[in-house]
Amino acid sequence: STIMVLNGPNLNLLGQREPDQYGHETLADVEVMCREEAVKHGYEIDFRQSNHEGVLIDAIHEAGQLIKAGKLLGVVFNPGAYTHTSIALHDAIKGADVPVVEVHISNVHAREAFRHHSYISPCAIGIVVGMGVQGYVLGMQGLLHKLAK
Ligand code: DQA
Repeated sequence: STIMVLNGPNLNLLGQREPDQYGHETLADVEVMCREEAVKHGYEIDFRQSNHEGVLIDAIHEAGQLIKAGKLLGVVFNPGAYTHTSIALHDAIKGADVPVVEVHISNVHAREAFRHHSYISPCAIGIVVGMGVQGYVLGMQGLLHKLAK
C-alpha cells in the first residue's frame, strides 16, 4: 500500500525560504526522509506539492478513490497557508472521507495570530506541529499507528 504526502503552497521553496522558521532541508530532502520511513514499514510513498488550491483538492479526491480501491492508507498533509484560509480543503477532506494527518514544520501557535486557526484540524485524525521536517516522519508514524493493520 501507499501513503500520500501532500504539500501546499510555497513548500517548493523549502530550504531557501525563511530558514530560521523552516530549516535548511529542501522538499527533496523531505521526500527522501519520507521514502526511507515508508520502506521500513513496507509502504510506498506518493509525494506531491502544489501551489494551487484546486490541485490540492483534486489530490484529496484522488486519495479518496485510492483508499476505496485499497491502494492508499491515508494522507500526511502540510497545507501551508491554505491551512488558515481554505474551507474548500476542509470540505474536500470531509467529502472524500480521507484520513489526514496535518503537519506543520514550524510551531504555528508560537507565531502570528493568523496562523493559530486551522480549517484542516477539525477533519484531521492527528496533528504534528513545530517538530521541523521530522514532523513528516512523525505524521507517517502516527498514520501507520492509527490505521495500519
Ligand atoms: C506551515 C505554517 C503555515 O502557517 C505557513 O503558511 C506555511 C508553512 C508550516 O509547515 O509550518 O506555509 O504550514
